[in-house]
Amino acid sequence: MLTATLTSPEATGAFARLLAARLAAPALVTLRGELGTGKTTLVRDLLRTLGVEGVVASPSFTLAQSYDGHGGLRLHHVDLYRLGPGADAALFAWEDYLDGASLTFVEWPEAGAAELPPADIDVVLRHRTPLSRDLELRAAPAIEKTLADAMIAAGIDDVAATA
Ligand SMILES: Nc1ncnc2c1ncn2[C@@H]1O[C@H](COP(=O)(O)OP(=O)(O)OP(=O)(O)O)[C@@H](O)[C@H]1O
Ligand SMILES: [Mg+2]
Repeated sequence: MLTATLTSPEATGAFARLLAARLAAPALVTLRGELGTGKTTLVRDLLRTLGVEGVVASPSFTLAQSYDGHGGLRLHHVDLYRLGPGADAALFAWEDYLDGASLTFVEWPEAGAAELPPADIDVVLRHRTPLSRDLELRAAPAIEKTLADAMIAAGIDDVAATA
């Protein structure tokens, strides 16, 4: 597990750029954490880094939005909040979101837990102060290690990688 403190929205943006550089299709990234912890903010930063120009709308009401990114990437932003606990996420054709050209970011994956395959990267955000968030990230150990090194080099606070 990798932990850090994201002390401002700018720090979250810096983290997004480092994480985006380590994502290769196909990948599923889940984002967990209470309302307002910055899941959508982080996904927006990721999508912009990956080549999405213009407005990135929150998919709270549409459940999913797809975009074209750099290098033929298909980028999917899914928000299952409105499905609610125990909802039937089987209505989602997950295989369409997890093909070889796709990176898929899912907020509130709890609502689709039964159908979602295991995440390649799982992010948990928690409120610390109004402008600061605690980050927990779970990924393959090699990714956690290189990402932690890059985060330390970028000056992100309290970075630690633990087995
Ligand atoms: N360090 C930080 N990182 C990210 N966002 C931050 C930070 N500090 C403050 N914020 C603010 O917190 C808010 C987070 O809202 P956001 O919509 O991203 O949360 P969310 O986790 O997606 O919520 P929801 O569960 O409702 O979808 C934004 O207004 C953002 O500017
Ligand atoms: Mg959100």
